[in-house]
Amino acid sequence: MAIAKIGIVTVSDRASAGVYADEGGPAILDYFSKALASPWQAVTRVIPDERAGIAQTLIELADKEGCCLIVTTGGTGPAPRDVTPEATEDVIDKLMPGFGELMRQVSLAKVPTAILSRQLAGIRGKSLIVNLPGRPRAIGECLDAVMPAIPYCIDLIE
Ligand code: MTE
Repeated sequence: MAIAKIGIVTVSDRASAGVYADEGGPAILDYFSKALASPWQAVTRVIPDERAGIAQTLIELADKEGCCLIVTTGGTGPAPRDVTPEATEDVIDKLMPGFGELMRQVSLAKVPTAILSRQLAGIRGKSLIVNLPGRPRAIGECLDAVMPAIPYCIDLIE
């Protein structure tokens, strides 16, 4: 059996330009290293907040790399350059509203600003794409909530 590939996409103008170090991607890597028992391989990208570029990256990771799961971090808020959810919507066949609903619900118990994240999830072919906010501490909070459903979701779309 092929080793499962997981796409990890940091969406940030400043991290992609080297203004500061990417913290979100390593936090997701660390999370899956601890959470997953079976072998997996990461495919990582750090890209700017550009709708077309984000969409292209998601297509590449889903269709060419064959990632069963793609997790993005950043660009989910209300600022003009925050377009990760729109780019995700551009490439998915099916929206999975429960993921965003649950992640916002658990996050709201931690920070009132969680309402500002428009994070969503959806299916492209055999890939599940999940948006996370950009703050590294949001990563564990959100993934803890949705992880129990992720392996079954991937099984269902295989
Ligand atoms: N969710 C969790 N769990 N923890 C957080 O700290 N930050 C919020 C929100 N969701 C946060 C969170 C804030 S301050 C913003 S602006 C939005 O996510 C969008 O963040 P993004 O644009 O970096 O994706």
